[in-house]
Amino acid sequence: MKTLIQNGHVLDPESKTEGIYDILVEGKKIVKVAEHIADAADKVIDAKGCFVMPGFIDLHVHLRDPGLEYKETLKTGGDAAARGGVTTICAMPNTKPVIDTEEKVRQVHERAKKESKVHVIQLGAITVGQAGEELADIVGMAKAGCHAISEDGKSVMNASLYRKAMKIAKEQGIAIFAHCEDITMVEGGVMHADKKAETLGLKGITNAVEDVIVARDILLAKETGVRLHLCHCSTEDSVKLVRAAKKEGLPVTAEVCPHHFTMTTGDITEDHGNFKMNPPLRGKSDVEALKAGLKEDIMDVIATDHAPHSEEEKNKSMKEAMFGIVGLETMASLTYTELVDTGVLTPMQMAEKTSYYPAKILGLQDKGAVSEGKIADLVIFDPNREYIIDKNTFFSKGKNTPFDGWKVKGDVRYTLVDGTIVYENTSY
Ligand code: DOR
Ligand code: ZN
Ligand code: ZN
Repeated sequence: MKTLIQNGHVLDPESKTEGIYDILVEGKKIVKVAEHIADAADKVIDAKGCFVMPGFIDLHVHLRDPGLEYKETLKTGGDAAARGGVTTICAMPNTKPVIDTEEKVRQVHERAKKESKVHVIQLGAITVGQAGEELADIVGMAKAGCHAISEDGKSVMNASLYRKAMKIAKEQGIAIFAHCEDITMVEGGVMHADKKAETLGLKGITNAVEDVIVARDILLAKETGVRLHLCHCSTEDSVKLVRAAKKEGLPVTAEVCPHHFTMTTGDITEDHGNFKMNPPLRGKSDVEALKAGLKEDIMDVIATDHAPHSEEEKNKSMKEAMFGIVGLETMASLTYTELVDTGVLTPMQMAEKTSYYPAKILGLQDKGAVSEGKIADLVIFDPNREYIIDKNTFFSKGKNTPFDGWKVKGDVRYTLVDGTIVYENTSY
């Protein structure tokens, strides 16, 4: 099978090449990138006016499978990813049961090959059952293809145990993906601690809840030498701490989620569960710092923290609802609208933060680039397409988004995984 993608605005974040090119895909690979390709093909895609980027690699997704399939499955999460231009996802291990053994990782990988349209990399938990007491089989899970381990949903509060995990991860050549939250400081908070929380009569989560663990984790990475990736950074001091860590040459990377660079607590229009996520929406100075951090490459990655929940679990006040919102199907549009169309990021930086840097963090050498010999995981993205986000059209089982009804610019037109079209936007 040969697919020819013509006249697209190609962005290759590896070589930093940008321009109008044709791309020939044969089998699973990109076989040619040139100004004009005359080869015959089974399928021709006209990508005029669209960016052709490496498929997005989302380092932070909750697939809920096994055990919480009423929220999402490998199939529905994969469909949602394909629709959002995401071709590889890292699945967080806080499922039921928690993914904490080699066998459980292998099972998800085997099932995902059959059930998901996109590549799934299962991450392993750091402690058994994420209970924070005993280390999981990190060596076995690394063997089964975990490119990172994570206790996401919480932090490993026992720093001594965590340091042991870091040493093992370092030996195995895998990264730690850190959820930074000092649970002893949360004290029942459900949203950012500010005037808005007071007005709504809700308990707040201060910035320090995140910042103290970011600082601790950076210091532990310094001591152990492990590659540390900081998940869903939401505060201005997180950006400061990452900046300082990078200046010191520490192996630290950081991600920001679209909701954290798009919304502040000022956008919370009602006390509803769809505005509740962990970490919470923050203040204006935080959002500005996150955007500046992204622009200056202090913050490396854009990831979703896609956290689907049922209608029943979210259609409640913030006090009662579960933490988390979906993100796979809105990530690209929100990034383009909020960061690229406004000039904060260049289109090339968008490709870097959504694909190239994530590929580097995972050590995927054949992904995150658009050049000959790479795997044909591609997204064809139309930057001029405007539409209104409608949660009822989501492929995800989760409809829990605060962005329903938002007008955005830029939409995914096609997604290819291993050279096969896995999503085509039918609104054209
Ligand atoms: O909002 C969140 N939801 N944050 C997390 O850390 C966990 C996640 C979930 O699993 O629902
Ligand atoms: Zn988390
Ligand atoms: Zn998460």
